Amino acid sequence: MKDKVLKELNNKYSGFVSGERLGSLFNVSRTAVWKYIKELKNEGYVIEASPNKGYRLVSSPDNLRPYEISLGLKTKIIGKDIKYFYTIDSTNDYAKKLASMGCHDGTVIVAESQTCGRGRLGRLWYSGAGKGIWMSVVLKPQIALLDIQIVTLAASVAVCFAIEEVTGIKTGIKWPNDIILSGKKVCGILTETNSEMELINFLVIGVGINVHQEIDDFPDELREKAISLKMHFVNSGNNISLKRSDIIKSFLFKLEQLYNIINAGEKQEIIDQWKKYSITLGKSVKVVRKKHEYTGTAEDITIDGKLVIRCSDGVVREVISGEVSINSIKEAI
Ligand code: BTN
Repeated sequence: MKDKVLKELNNKYSGFVSGERLGSLFNVSRTAVWKYIKELKNEGYVIEASPNKGYRLVSSPDNLRPYEISLGLKTKIIGKDIKYFYTIDSTNDYAKKLASMGCHDGTVIVAESQTCGRGRLGRLWYSGAGKGIWMSVVLKPQIALLDIQIVTLAASVAVCFAIEEVTGIKTGIKWPNDIILSGKKVCGILTETNSEMELINFLVIGVGINVHQEIDDFPDELREKAISLKMHFVNSGNNISLKRSDIIKSFLFKLEQLYNIINAGEKQEIIDQWKKYSITLGKSVKVVRKKHEYTGTAEDITIDGKLVIRCSDGVVREVISGEVSINSIKEAI
């Protein structure tokens, strides 16, 4: 309901909407309208109230309400259905439950905070309230199970694109999908698959972008390895106010473009775009995969997203997953 009230207020961005009109539009009393307005003000919306004229939206805070994300969202499929939580255990877990029960392709789950945010390799993902973008997207791509890595690569391209479009900051991708800024991790992606035999039922792409954290918001063990967009701005002497919903809009738009390319079978196009953001290719790397460890030069990426490494023993190997560290970059987190 609060989203509907906001939408109506926004329709009249420069003017007032009376409590009576809001009440009759949504079939609630004027007292109920006043209660919603009060709650919105508590969330940081600046709403002017005039006894004769009604309510006027003056400014919006940085939150992830579906209304804020939908406003001006240019997608056709992804983000048409958005589930919003103030707190949740993990948006990925919720997305998997929702998708198992049957939800639309492109459903998005966002939360202001996660109590059990999950990272890769069973790690915790710190997801403080309002500090970042904690989001999962359910996708049902028309591809073979063997090709799912391409969707994860596409998601990492979409993150780099969105960060640059909204903030001007250039980031790079450490294979397969860590987003790196000034040598530290600014975003991680956790893709989870549900499939039967060779058929994909759905994928959940979980994206965590560090936006507003200060160094103290990260636990000790991450302070050398993690960065937020805000920290980057402060370090470079800039002060810009970031709206997380703008980054999400841009991300969803780019992801949808790439998703269409994937469903059209154009994997090479995704690989080409990924390469433009890659900070891995041409570097000397160490890859730890299960009990094996390879060192060498990352030479290329295959059409299905494997990393091609010319190892120190002269053998060229292709790895589909693993923990990569690049000499010039802090250990993976
Ligand atoms: C990584 O370890 O690099 C992946 C981190 C993924 C974190 C995101 S936050 C939103 C979504 N929900 C989760 O529990 N994890 C992902």
